[in-house]
Amino acid sequence: MNNPGSDALLQQVADSFAATPDPRLREILASLVRHLHGFIRETGLTEREWMQGIEFLTAVGQTCDDKRQEFILLSDVLGASMQVVAVQSERPAGCTESTVFGPFHVEGASRIANGGDIANGARGEPCTVFGSVRNSDGDPVADAEVDVWQSDDDGLYDVQRPGLPAAQGRGVLRTDAQGRFWFTSVVPVPYPIPTDGPVGRLLDASRRSAWRPAHLHVRIVAPGHDTLITHVFRAGDPHLESDPVFGVRPSLVSSWPGSAEGRRELRFDFVLHRHEAP
Ligand SMILES: [Fe+2]
Repeated sequence: MNNPGSDALLQQVADSFAATPDPRLREILASLVRHLHGFIRETGLTEREWMQGIEFLTAVGQTCDDKRQEFILLSDVLGASMQVVAVQSERPAGCTESTVFGPFHVEGASRIANGGDIANGARGEPCTVFGSVRNSDGDPVADAEVDVWQSDDDGLYDVQRPGLPAAQGRGVLRTDAQGRFWFTSVVPVPYPIPTDGPVGRLLDASRRSAWRPAHLHVRIVAPGHDTLITHVFRAGDPHLESDPVFGVRPSLVSSWPGSAEGRRELRFDFVLHRHEAP
């Protein structure tokens, strides 16, 4: 397993990338080669197992189309997406924590005026969401673009329902002068990540849960601030401890309590990291 020939091979492969002009690409390739070869040598990987791995990755690629992104799902269940978020999140305390983007965002969703309905026919328990956006200095962030998306009462995103006449459960809002935004929707519920593809087979083979705790996705873009990609999770969800994509952060858990009128409401304040003045 640790024969000298494999050391020479590793060095030969590493050297083959040594003239890469882009220094960052050179660094990444060198590390990739080192870890990939280390993985093969540590496990004593057989040719048959390597071929099974290649067939698995081929199936992941073949499962992707313009609506289904199995590679993001694979990255998510391996914790790679969350690790990338973790190594990049160097924000001051008090800023809202980031989490995984997930595979169900659609760029260019409809613009929704504050007070509008993002459900657009998606079934579920009605609710109202009141959000605010301020920065790490405590100032409200006006005119921030707030992109929200979520599943319906069956735990499905609109893109998982072929033939829908219009988008459901997603929209793009803008904060007002006080940094506020608000909309009506339905209360999110837990859902299993898609298990009908190779990632589902991986979870099944390792006896892992496919169920994500209920959540609302939020992306906030504002000039002069770091873009925030996060979720708001629903308190009390039985899947908070076993999220298959490792996205839960305690600071992102909130409740959707009933108001005096009996309607459920989520109130959540988002804090962006303001860039240092140039
Ligand atoms: Fe989601």
